[in-house]
Amino acid sequence: MSLLFRAILILFLFATCSPASHEEVRSTSLIPLPADLTVQQGFFEVNNQTTIVCLSDDSAAHQVVSRFRQLLEKVTSFSIPWQPEAADNAIVFSLDTKTGVPDEGYHLVINGRQVKITASSAAGLYCATQTLRQLWPEEFDSENPPRQNFRWQALEIHDTPRYRWRGAMLDVARHFFTIEEVKRYIDYLAFYKMNVLHLHLSDDQGWRIEMKKWPRLTAFGAQQEVGGTTGGFYTQEQYRELVQYAADRFVLVVPEIDLPGHTHAAMASYPELSCDGRSRELYTGIDVGFSSLCYQKESTFAFIADVVDELAALTPGPFLHIGGDEALSTPHEEYVGFITRIQQIVRARGKRMIGWEEIAQAHLDSTSVAQYWSNQQHAKDAAAQGAMIILSPATRVYLDMKYDSTSVFGQDWAGLTSVEKSYQWLPDTVVSETWQHLVLGIEAPLWSETITHLDEAEYLAFPRLPGIAELAWTNSNKRTWSDYRQRLGRHAKRFDAWGIHYFRSPEIEWQN
Ligand code: ACM
Repeated sequence: MSLLFRAILILFLFATCSPASHEEVRSTSLIPLPADLTVQQGFFEVNNQTTIVCLSDDSAAHQVVSRFRQLLEKVTSFSIPWQPEAADNAIVFSLDTKTGVPDEGYHLVINGRQVKITASSAAGLYCATQTLRQLWPEEFDSENPPRQNFRWQALEIHDTPRYRWRGAMLDVARHFFTIEEVKRYIDYLAFYKMNVLHLHLSDDQGWRIEMKKWPRLTAFGAQQEVGGTTGGFYTQEQYRELVQYAADRFVLVVPEIDLPGHTHAAMASYPELSCDGRSRELYTGIDVGFSSLCYQKESTFAFIADVVDELAALTPGPFLHIGGDEALSTPHEEYVGFITRIQQIVRARGKRMIGWEEIAQAHLDSTSVAQYWSNQQHAKDAAAQGAMIILSPATRVYLDMKYDSTSVFGQDWAGLTSVEKSYQWLPDTVVSETWQHLVLGIEAPLWSETITHLDEAEYLAFPRLPGIAELAWTNSNKRTWSDYRQRLGRHAKRFDAWGIHYFRSPEIEWQN
């Protein structure tokens, strides 16, 4: 081989093996994985001449673009002026209800001249902005972003979610979480394109939302939490603020009041809600299944109607969650009677009832939704009645299960749940093909018996939560564990930038 030829060969090998740019690596590390992604040659540079365009009169669309513009100005320190028409060096958002892009889906094109985002709804534009955030440098999401030019990799994405319901539940009853902590959790959900936050607002250990007609529920019933530490509750004003904060991020808040079991705190606040009427201390342990409201007293249903009235007034969305799980101290006939009457009460306020899977033992109407967590037969019974179902199998998506025997927080009654075990679940296999249209989506509950503050919640949620976001967004036939674990490893820098206290699972090669 001539020296020249060898030199050319070495140069060629060097060129083809040169490591991918940071921009390219980020574009192949998106979570959830987009439906269709093509990485292209080149970059779009955001600099102090970049402008932003919103080709829509829709006020919700304008708000999305305006918030993204503010964020972009913050992370770069440039002023990013509005521009009326698409131009070079512009980020162009366009809302077009006739594009055929489904709700929450979007089409994103980045090339050397322009960034162009098209969607048929403001929610779709919002999801696209979360993709753009994942494509910019990790440090930009820290408290003190570097404030400089950056480049986005040229690419094209056609994206749309697999499921409408991409949820997470936070138990603020066993341990109370402040409004600021819940907002931060909402930020995480939105970043991974999740769109529902289910708040578990009452349980044996505490009642966490102000009820104007029943003030002792919080004046007394919110004082403590598991372990006997000081509890807390949200005033209705604070709760409304939270609902708005979530709505601004296209996250729907679904409130849950757990009935007829998990009601010790309510009965301790108002003894007349129990059949024996005796006074009770607050409960600070973690047993379940020992409490039940009194079915025989008509006043119980007046109480439930008042609670549902106030919750409905606080909830712009269509769903109210009424619990219904583990009512082990309620006789079966009474349980069915409870669910039947509560369903009527919820429907009469124009809302749809959600309950844990056990509600499938009652007659459900087609507006109701059962949340599968343990017994697949209940999910099937709900679907057979034409009710929709949310999938939350404890063995896969309960974020409060320990990862392995070394886990610092969490429980293990549903088994240890590694990052891989959670991710390698096929949600399409829970009910048969004929009932797939009844699957509303997936939700990841985080029960708080063992965690007291957000940093501990983060340890359990990260890194499993992004995987569940992907289960809900991306078709199972597009996903592989080997590809996902690579992408997840590259999100460590984002977790660091945000200050997330994640579990450094040994299953993942963390890239930070
Ligand atoms: C549940 O885990 N009790 C729904």
